[in-house]
Amino acid sequence: MPGIPMRSGGQKARIAVIPGDGIGAEVTPQAVKVLQAVSRSADRELEFVEFDWGAEKYLREGVTLPSGAVELLRDEFDAILFGALGDPRVPSNQHAADILLGLRFKLDLYVNARPVELLHERLTPLRGRTEKDIRLIVFRENTEGLYVGVGGVFKQDTPDEVAVQEDINSRKGVERIIRYAFEYARQNRRQRLCMSDKSNAMTFAHGLWQRVFKEVRQEYADIESRHLFIDTLAMEMVRDPRQFDVIVTCNLFGDILSDLGAQLAGGLGLAPSGNIHPGRTSLFEPVHGSAPNIAGQGIANPLGAVLSSAMMLEFLGFRLQAAAMRVAVQAALRENYVTADLGGDKTTTGVGDWLANFVEKNNLAKQLK
Ligand code: NAD
Ligand code: IPM
Ligand code: MN
Repeated sequence: MPGIPMRSGGQKARIAVIPGDGIGAEVTPQAVKVLQAVSRSADRELEFVEFDWGAEKYLREGVTLPSGAVELLRDEFDAILFGALGDPRVPSNQHAADILLGLRFKLDLYVNARPVELLHERLTPLRGRTEKDIRLIVFRENTEGLYVGVGGVFKQDTPDEVAVQEDINSRKGVERIIRYAFEYARQNRRQRLCMSDKSNAMTFAHGLWQRVFKEVRQEYADIESRHLFIDTLAMEMVRDPRQFDVIVTCNLFGDILSDLGAQLAGGLGLAPSGNIHPGRTSLFEPVHGSAPNIAGQGIANPLGAVLSSAMMLEFLGFRLQAAAMRVAVQAALRENYVTADLGGDKTTTGVGDWLANFVEKNNLAKQLK
């Protein structure tokens, strides 16, 4: 997805790899393999350092995000390639909260960019829709909202139990994501922007979104901007996705919309994302989770991880290599060299090998010059 702001690096780009749990640990090595293949044509080197953070380590050592990890990633790495976290043996999901949400919050990765692009028309469940109809990007606020973990339970496990989860929205937080979305639209010639909230019911929290949106949009008269309530937006995305270029919304709604969007473009196995703070160490991951229902079978689709890696390359300034990875993914889709979720019969590793071989054989990044 072109248009991700770059982090200008040194001689090498240093990438921290956190494969995580379940299929995260299966798809991430495939993405690394394709990254290694495609980066051979680059002037700058990619260096990978793997971290074993996840359920296994948590169960073994009680450690989620090790102390000093945030500073290490912030100071020593340019980007993080992340798989997924979630394990049935950790029903509280504590390790995911500490590691994934911890990194989003502590590295202040306030932009969660989740592009929805139909790469082959046979992949959409929508009748009669083609590639040109489904090409949008969701910008999800990524550092606050209902995710901050402010709240508590009272009289737990009694009939009088009360649970509270606060929705935290700061002017700074709301303004910077809305502004980012407008800037993105302007810089990438996306004509239309839609801000979505639920201000008709959540009058305090989303009243703030309304006020900030009204202010900021005045500075972007060149972008056609509008507001839709989240329930209507969900419906409209299915009815006529062609209306949308850039969508900006809060943390929770962005989470839900990105799975809806993913399905419009072929399913979770294909959907990429970037957790970004412009100019700082940022984290790239497929939108999907650890998929315990298919983990260990070697059938997980690695394309979401590969496309997330392409977003990461874009962010790191490897523009040609990022484009080459996307061309390779499109070729795999065209040839139907894909896993079962997309109607194919290939394995996770099979698809990874095919893509690595494709970029090398065609010396794609050079050809694209
Ligand atoms: P999920 O995304 O793991 O799976 C949803 C469905 O999509 C499953 O049927 C799964 O088999 C399928 N699927 C997902 N990715 C696929 C792929 N690459 N190839 C083929 N099929 C794929 O969501 P879930 O089942 O709700 O959650 C499972 C665990 O993952 C939970 O612990 C959840 O908290 C966690 N999770 C983590 C992340 C993350 O780390 N970013 C994201 C979502 C969910
Ligand atoms: C995602 C995931 C996470 C989220 C979970 C695992 C906390 O669903 O990255 O979309 O809700 O942000
Ligand atoms: Mn999600």
